[in-house]
Amino acid sequence: MKDLSDFRVSYEKYNLSEESIVDNPLILFKEWFEQICDSKQIKEPNAMTLSTVDKNNTPNNRVVLLKKFSNEGFIFYTNYMSNKGKSMSNNSNVCLSFFWPSHERQVIIKGKCIFMSKKESDEYFYSRPIDSQIGAIASDQSSEIPNRKYIVDKFEDLKKNHKKITRPEHWGGVIVHHETIEFWQGRKNRLHDRIFFTKSAKGKWSYSRLSP
Ligand SMILES: Cc1cc2nc3c(=O)[nH]c(=O)nc-3n(C[C@H](O)[C@H](O)[C@H](O)COP(=O)(O)O)c2cc1C
Repeated sequence: MKDLSDFRVSYEKYNLSEESIVDNPLILFKEWFEQICDSKQIKEPNAMTLSTVDKNNTPNNRVVLLKKFSNEGFIFYTNYMSNKGKSMSNNSNVCLSFFWPSHERQVIIKGKCIFMSKKESDEYFYSRPIDSQIGAIASDQSSEIPNRKYIVDKFEDLKKNHKKITRPEHWGGVIVHHETIEFWQGRKNRLHDRIFFTKSAKGKWSYSRLSP
């Protein structure tokens, strides 16, 4: 067995103190996200792990791309008939997480998700390159296929024969309405900073510091 017990990194680059925190966690998320983007050290800073729970209560993770965020929530796009789509239809509780190693930071967002309107899904679908639109039509995401040729041929066939591309009804946006957000900043000696925001029933945010 390969022993990884010596793999160890000391996190010493930044800190997260109460003085720098404002009441709305979105402001801090935006600040961190922009710092990561500006540093150009991470190719896809918007790549996030989406966790869902399926009808057998089994958790499932996969990476999706964040496409928009606001006080309303965090938006990504997918196939509603995929494994994750079925899980989200069955149980709207989801978790999103980012790990930005360049800045020794992690953000964990929990909330309920909602499938977005046709209009909103259309807007994004038709803004994508045409080949991505065809790719989304060609792929019955998460279903078993016989081989790679099957999907490549399907793509080429759609490309040749499709007169007008239309968004499949089962492809669109998902918005996660955040209810909690944890900001994790790596620190020396494993004494990391963890600031945990929760939203009250009245929509007011408050935060506490968690032990690392
Ligand atoms: C960097 C990266 C970005 C991805 N972005 C998306 C995305 O935005 N939407 C999506 O449906 N799948 C995306 N995927 C693929 C998913 O991780 C996953 O394989 C796919 O959605 C099927 O997941 P499921 O079977 O759990 O539904 C991405 C994968 C990677 C590695």
